[in-house]
Amino acid sequence: MGVIIINFKAYAEGCGRNAIEIARAVLSISDRVEDYIAVAPNHLDLSEIAKIGVDVYAQHVDPINFGSHTGRVTAEMVKEKGAKGSLINHSERRLRLADIDFLIQKFKDVGLISVVCTNNVNTTKAVAVLEPDYVAVEPPELIGTGIPVSKAEPEVVENSVRAVKDLNPNVKVLCGAGITTHEDYVRALELGAEGVLLASGIVKAKDPKKALEELVGLR
Ligand code: G3P
Repeated sequence: MGVIIINFKAYAEGCGRNAIEIARAVLSISDRVEDYIAVAPNHLDLSEIAKIGVDVYAQHVDPINFGSHTGRVTAEMVKEKGAKGSLINHSERRLRLADIDFLIQKFKDVGLISVVCTNNVNTTKAVAVLEPDYVAVEPPELIGTGIPVSKAEPEVVENSVRAVKDLNPNVKVLCGAGITTHEDYVRALELGAEGVLLASGIVKAKDPKKALEELVGLR
């Protein structure tokens, strides 16, 4: 049993009505497994999906407090819309180390779960020192390829887990990039990860519900 966070990104297949449909599938599958399954839709779909009863995470939060900023989103805003937490520093939305630190601390203050993405073992170590709830290591070159990190670069997962647990055993480790099948997921857990962060394998699948059932081993 592990953690599965599905990032809807800005895929057309993961926005608006499509996002709702995938979230409903997640809800029905969650009842049948012990895995914790959550989704990370775009900001505009956050509150509607939260109302369905699925745990939602934002894909990004800006490292700012309320104030004179335009087109920005604060931690308080996503919390108010029903988010349990947010991804921070995704490869497609990178931040500076000081901004990551700011957000991790701010999330602790407002009561949000921090899932900080990293791209290799060294950045994973650096982020673990900041004590987020989760670190999610994702080699950028494998993102969206369908080539699973747990098979193509198992040492990145294993070494990240080892480094994080040496520094602070309370920080949980996810891995991501190319995770699609049950075998990819199980392999990630065998390597010591607490779960996976994934996107295209579910969101862009012809039948996302079937793909998720397969991922968790119901098919
Ligand atoms: O946030 C998850 C992501 O970057 C991995 O994407 O499509 O390789 O599962 P994907």
